[in-house]
Amino acid sequence: MVIGSGAREHAIVNSLYQSKTARKIFVVPGNPGTEAISLNLKIDTDNFKILAEAIKSLKVDLLIVGPEIPLVNGISDFLRKDPELSNLLIVGPSSRGALLEGSKDFSKKFMLKHNIPTAPYKTFNSNNLDEGINYLSTISPPYVLKADGPAAGKGVLIINDLMAAQTELKNMILHSKFGDSGSNVVIEGFLDGIELSCFVLIDGIDYLILPYAKDYKRIGEGNTGLNTGGMGSISPVPFADSVFQQKIEEKVIKPTVKGIIEDKLNYVGFLFIGLIKVGDEPYVIEYNVRLGDPETQVVLPRIKNDFLELMVSTATGSLKNHTIEIDDQAYANVVLASAGYPGSYEKGKDIKGINDVVDSIVFHAGTSGNHDTLQTSGGRVLSIVSMDKDFKSALKKTYKSIEKIHFEGKTFRKDIGFDL
Ligand code: AMP
Ligand code: GLY
Repeated sequence: MVIGSGAREHAIVNSLYQSKTARKIFVVPGNPGTEAISLNLKIDTDNFKILAEAIKSLKVDLLIVGPEIPLVNGISDFLRKDPELSNLLIVGPSSRGALLEGSKDFSKKFMLKHNIPTAPYKTFNSNNLDEGINYLSTISPPYVLKADGPAAGKGVLIINDLMAAQTELKNMILHSKFGDSGSNVVIEGFLDGIELSCFVLIDGIDYLILPYAKDYKRIGEGNTGLNTGGMGSISPVPFADSVFQQKIEEKVIKPTVKGIIEDKLNYVGFLFIGLIKVGDEPYVIEYNVRLGDPETQVVLPRIKNDFLELMVSTATGSLKNHTIEIDDQAYANVVLASAGYPGSYEKGKDIKGINDVVDSIVFHAGTSGNHDTLQTSGGRVLSIVSMDKDFKSALKKTYKSIEKIHFEGKTFRKDIGFDL
């Protein structure tokens, strides 16, 4: 059973579907893309009790949790405590492990404690707001302000002007700009470099590094405009050569996994390490306790191992028996969004032409209906993924496929990979 409804989950289900041993796949709640290869179930994933009952009656063997919110809310602990579910395998960390994403303050403390390279920081709230305002005037711009709690990737402000930064700090702390997520604010040093995403599978003790990817978070071309959930992605990452990958493993991944074990975070699942390359050095921008979207859509198709086997081995603590086998072709993904996203947008626009796409995989996100009556139902609508010898050729295929897909307001970035 897979929890989630985005293109990331469609990609997860797609990989499970190809496994030799997968018998039946349920997705809660899924989308029209997952419906075609598995069974969607309309269960409220916030209601862990009802979910537990469904898991029992359907005799689910393995649960994979896609998004962070159920993890931060303790879904894994809840299910692991149920004596009737003692045999259920779960890929998804405990709520304590999920704090690595659920609290920026917790994750920064963790990095500092375990000597993991990251930007220097301080945390402020209503008790020391004046100190925070003062602190800003002692550091140099750009100012990086982060809501402590989860904010779907939108809780980060990067501001050049001191007065504007001080005003925003007040808005976050006193006027709940990001709701409760922003009652504590992390202010950290600005890191100037190029970002990449690293995904690690952790079985509690051992780890397996998945292919590196790079995503494009801003809505506008040239990485301008508002942050989104992600508008495109590519894998592999040309600047992550073997020397740099080795550095990441030694300086970031090993101390992270060691720290997770030492601090007893009880971590079984995917760990997403958001990295930035500054000069030749990797720094951690953030941890997420799940796979990234839209990176998953280019990472999972590159994994040649039986994906279900990897998931079972993760949940049973036997990853050490595996090495990762990676397709060295390049994959590129461009996200089609609704006009207006990440601001307000209209839903219910007819989607045509997906069946004419032959050179790309189409992963669904904000869609509803079935393949005859498909309509838009979200901000990010589809992920269009292609494969070729390098990311530029793969992108060409994706952009060709995009020409075949039509819906009113179809919006996408035409410059994915521009900075590579
Ligand atoms: P986060 O939610 O922590 O991943 O931050 C969202 C985005 O803000 C990141 O992907 C970066 O593009 C940017 N960002 C966050 N922290 C920093 C930093 N310390 N220096 C530069 N950019 C940052
Ligand atoms: N692509 C970034 C994220 O999933 O948070």
